Amino acid sequence: MKRIFSGVQPTGHLHLGNYLGAIRNFVALQHDYDAIYCVVDLHAITVWQDPAQLADHTRQVTAAYLAAGIDPKKCIIFNQSRVSAHSELAWIFNCVARLGWLNRMTQFKEKAGKHREQASAGLYVYPTLMAADILAYKATHVPVGEDQKQHLEFARNVAQKFNFDYHREVFPIPEPLILGAAARVMSLRDGSKKMSKSEPSDMTRINMTDDADTIANKIKRATTDPDTLPGPDVLDDAGDLPDETRRERPACYNLLGIYAALSDMSWREVLQQFEGQGFATFKTTLTELAVEKLAPIGNEMNRLTADPAEIDSILREGADRAAAIAVPVLDEALDAVGF
Ligand code: ADP
Ligand code: NA
Repeated sequence: MKRIFSGVQPTGHLHLGNYLGAIRNFVALQHDYDAIYCVVDLHAITVWQDPAQLADHTRQVTAAYLAAGIDPKKCIIFNQSRVSAHSELAWIFNCVARLGWLNRMTQFKEKAGKHREQASAGLYVYPTLMAADILAYKATHVPVGEDQKQHLEFARNVAQKFNFDYHREVFPIPEPLILGAAARVMSLRDGSKKMSKSEPSDMTRINMTDDADTIANKIKRATTDPDTLPGPDVLDDAGDLPDETRRERPACYNLLGIYAALSDMSWREVLQQFEGQGFATFKTTLTELAVEKLAPIGNEMNRLTADPAEIDSILREGADRAAAIAVPVLDEALDAVGF
């Protein structure tokens, strides 16, 4: 059985990047894999979260999963803190992983920034918890974007070292599931920065719950440049957009990339369609498409979050089903360690 594990942090409003880079793929993958989709609230508190907001955001991520089309009958949807095997296994992995491995993690360096001494210890050992998330279910595959590749490699090393140190093949080595090109959505205001939940200005992102007028206004005010839209001659022989070309007009290619992802069109098709046009016409077409794709999901999210009882019961049932898999795996690990 092929099994995947993936998650999203309940740390703020979900946006178009989360949808195109993660959640939309989760929906597609549920048909081919035994899929476990987690709301990773333990990861969220590596940076302080307001308790009431944490609960709201947990429900919001769950609503996004459901509204986008993840079927709780087919998959397991739950929040991490409700299955204590994650924390217990993470402790064991803290003792398996080496400090040198953690020191190499680029995401910690990015997130801690200049205030390294003030970062939580949890932020530092985040990768051991992520290894526990994956390995507690003996997941065979993990859908990863560019930013999580190093953490998956870390989880593979933990699995290997655990099996070696304790002379038992408890954990399979999980494989990355590399997702399609669309993966990276940038800020509407600065095409060189990732669209992010943690960015203070709401104008930098399209939230999954934005209504039609808000989406239109944000796209209208998105950064552009004075030139007309490029044609397919900017692509390389494989039909991909070279990085150095993207860097010449980051805002322009970000909007075109969003169009390509939302329409399921290739770069070539999109560039052919809009070649030589100005941004005004293109932005109108992009707005129509974004509203068509996102508004139904946003409306369903709002309907679901209006009734927390339904979401909470889906999460509770999911946690029970998750624990039924994770607890026996934890027991195997405890036994191997000698407990
Ligand atoms: P954020 O970075 O907004 O805080 P998370 O870290 O919770 O979001 O990421 C949740 C998922 O969404 C991850 O799989 C991540 O790769 C994906 N993701 C986040 N931001 C983007 C983006 N701008 N473009 C594409 N995918 C993204
Ligand atoms: Na991220």
